[in-house]
Amino acid sequence: MHTTDAAAPPAPFWLSQQDCHLDEFIRTVERRTALAAYPHAAAVEENILVYDCDQVRALASDPVALRALQAEWGQALLDGPGVVVLKRAVADMVCLEQVNRVFHALIAEQHASGQAGGDHFAKPGANDRIWNAQQKLCLRAPEAFARYYANPVFAWICQAWLGPAYQMTAQVNVVNPGGAAQAPHRDYHLGFQSAASCEAYPAPVHQMSALLTLQGAVAHCDMPLASGPTLYLPYSQRYRAGFLAWQQRPFRDYFARHCVQLPLAKGDAVFFNPALFHAAGHNRSPDIHRMATLLQVSSPFGRAMEALDRRAMSAALYPALQALRKQGTLSADGIAHAVAACAEGYAFPCNLDRDQPIAGMAPPTQQQLMLQALAQDWPAARLSDALDSHAWRQQA
Ligand SMILES: [Fe+2]
Repeated sequence: MHTTDAAAPPAPFWLSQQDCHLDEFIRTVERRTALAAYPHAAAVEENILVYDCDQVRALASDPVALRALQAEWGQALLDGPGVVVLKRAVADMVCLEQVNRVFHALIAEQHASGQAGGDHFAKPGANDRIWNAQQKLCLRAPEAFARYYANPVFAWICQAWLGPAYQMTAQVNVVNPGGAAQAPHRDYHLGFQSAASCEAYPAPVHQMSALLTLQGAVAHCDMPLASGPTLYLPYSQRYRAGFLAWQQRPFRDYFARHCVQLPLAKGDAVFFNPALFHAAGHNRSPDIHRMATLLQVSSPFGRAMEALDRRAMSAALYPALQALRKQGTLSADGIAHAVAACAEGYAFPCNLDRDQPIAGMAPPTQQQLMLQALAQDWPAARLSDALDSHAWRQQA
């Protein structure tokens, strides 16, 4: 029995760079946001939904209304503009000031210690980063952390995208006056992979990637347009081949012509689908150190049920692979498949202070280390030391 729709051309299961078509992309993104379709929104500005969190917080005592609001946010992020601005998301400005003081102290300590501020997208020095600000704030100022994250608005939007048991991480980014704009991009997971690497993942995984993370930015100071708040291309998260397309010149040019930008006030927040095309703006102000907490919230899913000691397994397997290769028992492909079943193949989570993303988007993986050792026929002790050092670099 035929159950497929004969009229619709089949969408490719494997996406390649040749599957990116600007005309399709334009048809996907060129639509207007109707305020009437989002009854809880206060306004549509630059095609982006704006919510007034004083009104949002009033829903706390009404679970049915709150769930309706969360459904609206989820839909807006999934199929709508892909980005929502939450005005006055932070109501406790005393707490925000307290957190700012902690962040400034941490940045001053980083400068004093000469720690380089490696960044995925900016030249070192153009901005200040606090990697893993979540842990640093919690350990340094637990009471400020408690008050900051007691915020119901953050919890509600995380639940709306990821459900309960989400994993919160945060980084602080300060873009100093003169700091350049970022190139447009998508975010974690597949947004941190090269086009060639994205092509290795099947198309449904491209769609899944966006569902595994929620991106947020909380303004820790006023951000007028001159200070370069983030540029967005609403609806671009809907483009199926987008993880490949953002890396191509015609799409970047289209972004440059059509992206939008909204000023933020201190305490406002923006949340967006990580598949949305976006880029931090150019800070043209003479004196605004544009500071935001970037919330990167992860799904609890995507983790294995069992905990394995893959370091110990890799050290044990390595001499066996060397021996089997020498005997001619295993081909190069067979060895690669055995390595894939043993060593960790993903670079994240990592410690960005110890493994600064200066050379590339992702630090090397345990699998890459093991394959390198095999290619160069390292002695087992050398791989063992490298695995230890790799494990240390990943620890928080
Ligand atoms: Fe980003």
